Amino acid sequence: MSGALSVSTFARSLTGETAFDVLAVARRLKSTGKDVIELQIGDSPYPSATAAIKAGKAAIEAGQTRYCPSMGLPEFRESAANLVRAEFAIPATAVNVVVAAGAKPFEQFFCELFLDPGDHVLVFQPAFPTYEPNIARRGAKPVYVPLRQENAFRPDLDAIEAFIKEPLAKAIFLNSPHNPTGGVATKADLAAIANLVRGTKVAVFSDEPYCHMVWGDRHHSLLAEPGMMEQCVAAYTFSKSYSMSGWRCGFAVTSPPFAELIGKMINTTLSCAPPFVQLAGKAAMEDDPSERDGVMRKFRAKVELLVAELRTVDGVTVLLPAGTFYVFPNVEPICRRLGITSHGLAMYLLEGADDRLGVACLGGECFGEAGRGFLRFSCAEPDDRLVQAVRFLAEAITRADRVRAYLTAHPRYRLG
Ligand SMILES: Cc1ncc(COP(=O)(O)O)c(C=O)c1O
Repeated sequence: MSGALSVSTFARSLTGETAFDVLAVARRLKSTGKDVIELQIGDSPYPSATAAIKAGKAAIEAGQTRYCPSMGLPEFRESAANLVRAEFAIPATAVNVVVAAGAKPFEQFFCELFLDPGDHVLVFQPAFPTYEPNIARRGAKPVYVPLRQENAFRPDLDAIEAFIKEPLAKAIFLNSPHNPTGGVATKADLAAIANLVRGTKVAVFSDEPYCHMVWGDRHHSLLAEPGMMEQCVAAYTFSKSYSMSGWRCGFAVTSPPFAELIGKMINTTLSCAPPFVQLAGKAAMEDDPSERDGVMRKFRAKVELLVAELRTVDGVTVLLPAGTFYVFPNVEPICRRLGITSHGLAMYLLEGADDRLGVACLGGECFGEAGRGFLRFSCAEPDDRLVQAVRFLAEAITRADRVRAYLTAHPRYRLG
């Protein structure tokens, strides 16, 4: 650091989403002429919802371009409440809804709402990478519990029961459908979790960005369980359901007093979410759901294709995800044979396996220790490119000389 300035301990410890780092490497390689199949980031390859584009443009033309209430436009809040009530049986009205720039800001606001230094927070791992920095922002401590492939990556109820009894237990981060594993908590899991936490001092952050990407059943929210509105903040986003990641629009649903406190946090940070973006989101929510559901069906077909292809590769064990547009294969035998970590394998596929072609994906350890031995693929490319990516993986892991050279240049990816 220059001069007398020193940055805070928090700033020094800050970590972010590796997906954005890998994206930067992929784009750099592409700019040098390499063909890269980009499966690293959880984004949609489809255009934003037609109704949103039309309403967003009209709202700008109509002058919806200045400050608006910190909690959100009343008509947006009402529309969001209608959606979660109709689709997920959550007993919400407009007073339960607060709007921000995506789902992610609510991780920070939830932590500011409930956590004091030293508090413990149960986080299932693999975990979305920004939970930990937001818990750290408050000086609180994550307590990690693994999600297991044998349990279809569903939350471990015994671990929740044990955690709640700890004197420092203050909050739980729940994410269903789950990024990166594709695991989904069943309605029975959620009822059991509600029974465990109801009436205790433990608050739950229920992160639900993939609420329209449930492939077997339909989406269930913890908020629909009795008493959970008073103990839970659920976060939703337009990024996945309506392909609107760049608009930055999302909302939280919780009890009115908690919603108002989050409104104060928005007042003191963002001021408000842009009104024309909210009007675009409102139009997407109120549009006939056939466009949205059609896009979701395309994601489902992509996930199934990717799983079918991966199952042909020796050394890969992969579950059909119950939700999300991610596929999370176990590649541990391959890593052991090649002596490379799983994120090393991911970076080798991108940088080292071939001069002309690369596949960008993430090692499971980008989501914490419990992700070691796995890869995460998103489905953000056309079907033929997904097939090409898996065929490339199958071929790349036979190029022992290339793996050796890559490990010599990048010894941090050596296994053990
Ligand atoms: C589990 C999870 N939470 C939160 C987010 C953030 O969503 P948004 O970009 O809409 O804020 C994502 C995005 O990938 C996610 O996967």
